[in-house]
Amino acid sequence: MNKLRIGIAGLGTVAQGVLHLVRTNGSLMVSRTGIELVVQRIASRSAKPGVDLLGAAFSKDLHDLVADPEVDVILELIGGEGSAKELIESALAAGKPVVTANKAVIAAHGDQLLAGGNVPLRFEAAVAGAIPIIQSLNQGLAANRIDAIYGIINGTCNYMLTVMEEEGLAFDQVLSQAQALGYAEADPAFDIEGIDAAHKLTILAALGFGTSYNFSALYVEGITQITVDDIQYAKELGFKIKHLGIAVQSEAGLETRVHPTLVPASALLASVNGVMNAVQVVSDGAGETLFSGPGAGGAATASAVLADVLSFGSLVAAGPSEAAQSQDQGAHSAVAVPEISRVAMDDVLSACYLRIPTIDRPGVFALVASTLSAHSISIEAVIQKEHPGSDASVFIVIITDMVVESVVNAALTELSALDIIVGEIIRIRVAPTH
Ligand code: HSE
Repeated sequence: MNKLRIGIAGLGTVAQGVLHLVRTNGSLMVSRTGIELVVQRIASRSAKPGVDLLGAAFSKDLHDLVADPEVDVILELIGGEGSAKELIESALAAGKPVVTANKAVIAAHGDQLLAGGNVPLRFEAAVAGAIPIIQSLNQGLAANRIDAIYGIINGTCNYMLTVMEEEGLAFDQVLSQAQALGYAEADPAFDIEGIDAAHKLTILAALGFGTSYNFSALYVEGITQITVDDIQYAKELGFKIKHLGIAVQSEAGLETRVHPTLVPASALLASVNGVMNAVQVVSDGAGETLFSGPGAGGAATASAVLADVLSFGSLVAAGPSEAAQSQDQGAHSAVAVPEISRVAMDDVLSACYLRIPTIDRPGVFALVASTLSAHSISIEAVIQKEHPGSDASVFIVIITDMVVESVVNAALTELSALDIIVGEIIRIRVAPTH
């Protein structure tokens, strides 16, 4: 049996989940892996008197983790970019392997932190909580060319869209519920404006397509414009609205985008509800694979953190110098990571859902259709709905055929300028098909 002494930075939900799993499943881990996890030291800005630290030393200074010679591995569970990045850098420089659940820091600084790849830095918990998607991309699907990744990778958005659909509750009410249940990030804008999902897609795209960790290359849109009406109209047209991270490789390059998406009601992803996450990977050998599970929560995220810890347990047991010389399988190699060509959002091709608020008068639909037609946009389906709260106007709801983004943008600009339009036109892209 090998002892692995861990130092934990942070004492929030995920750190407490780690302590819970070590306490309840520690012996199971020993029998399964031969590794006994010992929580050696915990560092957190604030003490939590009610939490069982499993006998670990406690300090308020994060640097104590790196300085403690009895800490073999550091778990960075504080989140954010500033102190977390500094801690990861100093731990790696000291030859201590790091496990992090921090998607923001990897999405923004992954290339730099992983350069060299000598001391392990792993981050299974950074994407889709409990789902072992990083391991699946790095190992399980290593023999495949990845063609596409579609992910429901923000539990808060998925929870909100599900409750809006099932209970007909308005956006703001459901956001308060999600926050009360502890699903939302400290700053809920990260969830509802798509930033959290974009951090995660940045990581999936880097691993799936061998490109750089380039958060700024993504197109990002959140769910703040989605209403219960849109969810209902989409349902009538045979779709569910999901907030998706989409990375698709084609001859034109790599598309990386995060936005609300109409998914056919019969698609596998359409049945993933509530706080659950799911990642669908399309590859040449394995075909379509779907990974699903809880994307947030203390114990679920801790499960992924500890999977990483146990994965290099034997390496650390061999001694720090071995650890420092070993090539980390979870990282890119020391070679500079290429930035592969990305498809600009203006060039992305997709069908679109349009909710167009117009005055209710003869000839209006003909005018909308002729404006779209002038841009060679073909209509696939259309319904007309009463405009809630207004007798004088209606919603014309259209699904278009496939159309290039810049063309829809031009058509929407022209439509919006017509005097028959009485509010903002909502556009939601339809999921690509494979
Ligand atoms: N706020 C995140 C979510 C937590 O809702 O998915 C996990 O990253």
